Amino acid sequence: MNEVYDALNTFLVDESVVGMGSGSTIEGYIPYMKEHVDRYSLDVAFIPTSKKTEDQLKRHGLAVVHHADRMPVTIDGADQFNETRMVIKGGGGSLLREKQVGYFSDQIVIIAHQDKKVEDFSGTAIPVEINTYLYEMTVGTIEENFGAETEMRTREDGLFITDNGNYIVDCHFSDPQDMDQIHNDLVAIPGVVETGIFNRKIRHIFSFDDQGAYQEYAKDR
Ligand code: A5P
Repeated sequence: MNEVYDALNTFLVDESVVGMGSGSTIEGYIPYMKEHVDRYSLDVAFIPTSKKTEDQLKRHGLAVVHHADRMPVTIDGADQFNETRMVIKGGGGSLLREKQVGYFSDQIVIIAHQDKKVEDFSGTAIPVEINTYLYEMTVGTIEENFGAETEMRTREDGLFITDNGNYIVDCHFSDPQDMDQIHNDLVAIPGVVETGIFNRKIRHIFSFDDQGAYQEYAKDR
């Protein structure tokens, strides 16, 4: 994985704040990145997209902040992506903070296994973060408006609760072609907090295989 991690490291700018994503892929990258930061004595602090990432960054002695005037880059994982750099996230339930941190960055750089590349999102569950208040009515409206099949995300002791105290409903849409439109229509429903459809600021996707070789889908460099 060193090759693809090295490619990610080129986006770390000295004296900057970097958005750091969530999930197992990012978890694997953080220790390697820490070595790079130390080797080049980089002065970087991180805005984490989840409590889990925040804990890991701190355990590695990396600086964590919750405000920045500017963030040149956010580095994050993905659940699915396509050739046009449309990305679905939220498998780990951190989509709201991931969306916020990514939005406030100049660009988002994604790292994801090549198996996550799809032609379209018809077989993909789209995670949607919803407010707990009247959540059954919110879910009912999603089903009715989109003809979607939905499943409330659970954990061992009941419904899954996000870092922000919300629920996640995973939605299957029958013919999800225009993902921008689906996102816009979903967030128009009161009670929908955010969707896992990431369609902005993603300039680079590094898709790696089992040997660690990678392919880059990029807008410009
Ligand atoms: C967290 O909510 C997600 O968006 C993750 O970034 C995404 O699920 C990728 O996770 P893995 O790297 O664990 O596959």
